Amino acid sequence: MAEKEKLQVELCMGSSCFARGNSAALSDLEAYINENGLEDRVELGGHLCLGKCNTGPHMRVGGKEYSGIMDPACIIDIIAKTLEEMDAEPDLH
Ligand code: FES
Repeated sequence: MAEKEKLQVELCMGSSCFARGNSAALSDLEAYINENGLEDRVELGGHLCLGKCNTGPHMRVGGKEYSGIMDPACIIDIIAKTLEEMDAEPDLH
């Protein structure tokens, strides 16, 4: 079976987004990935300030941008749903 594509999750690491929630989100997401054995499914990374600090914190999940999510549980929900959608897609490789 072909290896599944990894879901790219990027948190804005600019000082504003980091202070507004992405610092807590980063540690919660690392714990979520480790506790659920998702190291092979999720690639956690960061990106620089997008210049949209006033609507942050910002993040991208699978290339889709999300803003203003302060609760790490909501981010985890988005990741879980996106992984479900990826699993439901037919494997065309
Ligand atoms: S710090 Fe995230 S958009 Fe500026």
